[in-house]
Amino acid sequence: MPLSFLTIIYLTAAVLFILSLGGLSSQESARRGNLYGVIGMGIAVIATLLHPDFHSFGLPLGSMAIGAVIGAVLAARVAMTAMPQLVALLHSFVGLAAVLVGISSYLAPGHEMEAAAKTVHFIEIWLGVAIGAITFTGSIVSWLKLGGKISGKPLLLPGRHMLNGLAALLILALIVPFMMMDGTGGVLSLLIMTVLASVLGIHLVMAIGGADMPVVVSLLNSYSGWAAAAAGFMLANDLLIVTGALVGSSGAILSYIMCKAMNRSILNVIFGGFGTGDSSAAPPPPTDGEVKEAVSTDCDEVADLLRDAKNIVLVPGYGMAVARAQHPVEQLTRMLRERGKTVRYAIHPVAGRLPGHMNVLLAEAGVPYDIVLEMDEINEDLPETDVVLVIGANDIVNPGAQTDPHSPIAGMPVLEVWKSGMVVVLKRSLRVGYAGVGNPLFYLENTRMLFGDARDSIEALVSALKE
Ligand code: TAP
Repeated sequence: MPLSFLTIIYLTAAVLFILSLGGLSSQESARRGNLYGVIGMGIAVIATLLHPDFHSFGLPLGSMAIGAVIGAVLAARVAMTAMPQLVALLHSFVGLAAVLVGISSYLAPGHEMEAAAKTVHFIEIWLGVAIGAITFTGSIVSWLKLGGKISGKPLLLPGRHMLNGLAALLILALIVPFMMMDGTGGVLSLLIMTVLASVLGIHLVMAIGGADMPVVVSLLNSYSGWAAAAAGFMLANDLLIVTGALVGSSGAILSYIMCKAMNRSILNVIFGGFGTGDSSAAPPPPTDGEVKEAVSTDCDEVADLLRDAKNIVLVPGYGMAVARAQHPVEQLTRMLRERGKTVRYAIHPVAGRLPGHMNVLLAEAGVPYDIVLEMDEINEDLPETDVVLVIGANDIVNPGAQTDPHSPIAGMPVLEVWKSGMVVVLKRSLRVGYAGVGNPLFYLENTRMLFGDARDSIEALVSALKE
């Protein structure tokens, strides 16, 4: 196929990727966005196979078939709650690919270039390999942390900023001998730099606490995009450059949005050591001197509250995903709406463990989009709400974020559910959530605790309401 035709096909794929990103920005158009992405990627793969430099199809088709089978099995089997780990693992592949492309592009024979072009090419290789190695090992560590295979606690080595700075300086300095060598003589510098960047990736992510992992995964997503873009420059592949830049910039924007939602700065996340990721500890007692008891309730009492209420808000959190309670929750919503109640959902930007986690679950269960509201849209309506059901959420409804300046989540915007008439919290115990902090909400006068698995509790509530 002539190269000019190939360029047009690549451009078409790039436009489809942009349409895909646009589609993914709202729930109504997300399926269409996904479809554009799949078609764009299909076109890109076929066009690549038709590239004039491609002479043998066995190896690429064979490896694609193996990859497709592994990908399909993983995607079909992964639980929604394990999605962040899977995403982290997939980013690591992009990083590893950039490292391998960089090293093999350096070692590939027959690249006679002019001095200026050679300098640019070597810088591309250096950047691609460095970003790729940091992305690769950083993503592996996030995968291990998110999957609970290693502790979520931040590893805070003494002088860690100095160690990181030293590693970064060495990575920069090694480019000098690399550029000065003829032929492939700089391979040793390249390999030493790869090891240094890999260690830096491990150390950077090991120092980040559990509660900041979502931002880190999104940042690594961005790095993986830039690594792919660098690989695109090395291979002179326009589509890879465009796709990498799209992933890189959208990941960076998402990281920014998430940092804003958690009231944290990116630098604070990258160099911090916030959150333990340990959800087994008991909460500290309320701090105003007097030890209060959380008041528990049962399904019949909550059903009565709901019968009397006009305005109801549901706040789903990570526990709803764990309990797979979205379908009974949808059934409860339908039932209450049929009885003339105003029922709406309040979605915190970092509820659950993935951006948009709750929206995906609610859409899957068939909850109408127009009653699912973002935190900023619903917070001011909460004082006029009769009953709020908090379904497996904890950190996102913690008033301590506003009242306790020493709390690790101090300043994080939260859903102000305590301002409503009555709050019912559905969870199994008084244990802490992801950020590892106790929640004073559980001890407030207008809070009732409905202990138990969220799915069981909602199903029991539906039955109680039918009676
Ligand atoms: P969390 O603060 O993690 O609280 C979830 C609560 O669900 C837990 O306290 C747990 O209490 C309860 N739970 C677990 N399984 C349950 C079940 N089967 N039935 C009923 N309850 C159950 O969740 P959240 O309020 O959604 O806040 C999200 C947190 O995760 C934030 O700190 C956020 O920064 C962080 N984070 C967010 C993301 C993104 S991007 N969304 C990614 C990673 C981390 P019991 O054990 O007592 O039941």
